[in-house]
Amino acid sequence: MNPNRKPIIAGNWKMYKTSAEGVALVNALKAEVAGITKAEIVVCPTAISLPAINAAIAGSNIQLGSQNVHWEKEGAFTGEIAPAMLKEHGVRYTIVGHSERRQFFGETDAGVNKRAKAALANGLRPIVCVGEMLAEREAGKTEAVVAGQVRGSLAGFSKDDILATVIAYEPVWAIGTGKTASPAQAQEVHALIRRLLTELFGADVAGKVRIQYGGSVKPDNAKELLGQPDIDGALVGGASLKAADFAAIVKAAA
Ligand code: 13P
Repeated sequence: MNPNRKPIIAGNWKMYKTSAEGVALVNALKAEVAGITKAEIVVCPTAISLPAINAAIAGSNIQLGSQNVHWEKEGAFTGEIAPAMLKEHGVRYTIVGHSERRQFFGETDAGVNKRAKAALANGLRPIVCVGEMLAEREAGKTEAVVAGQVRGSLAGFSKDDILATVIAYEPVWAIGTGKTASPAQAQEVHALIRRLLTELFGADVAGKVRIQYGGSVKPDNAKELLGQPDIDGALVGGASLKAADFAAIVKAAA
């Protein structure tokens, strides 16, 4: 972490929790994180639970995020959700390009770029996910893969666009596996991403962009990961489904 960047801890609930279960979870979380202002706290439930969770977090320090967003304002795009539809229900952040979307639903950097730009044009802040697969890391391609995803996903971004964006580095081999990247491995890629941002947007802007780490972040490894100079938060899957665990990660950041 760096004092120039406010840490951001986001919980990606993926396809877990009904609305009733989600409301119970945020109610417990609200009590655990009450009064914390030194870190931004975001929960990203399934789309159908957004209205219920939005109501449950009213007046708290927890913000709402979605797990995806479409690039068009409206239209014949079965199964997709437009930015204004998310905003109507209190959404502030939106995850785009999660590796599960890339792996299982064929999302590409070009599509991620369109989604992110539409989010920004509508006042939503994208959390743009990048990360290499195990085979790519083993083949020594981590840098090339991540750099390609960053360039492709952020193509055409202005300085204001990138300043409103969060980048999440999530090595695919660390997601849901219990195998977290070591703090040094994560820091190495975060530093690479910041160098790229410096090349694209200048050092002043790059120094303000928050880069989250994601992949088996737990209460017991959060502090060490967040202690790295270029790690500005966490995108948390499994541990975000338990109020006490997620709160412990928030406290490690705050
Ligand atoms: P886990 O924390 O369960 O590994 O998931 C990480 C993730 O994919 C967050 O988006």
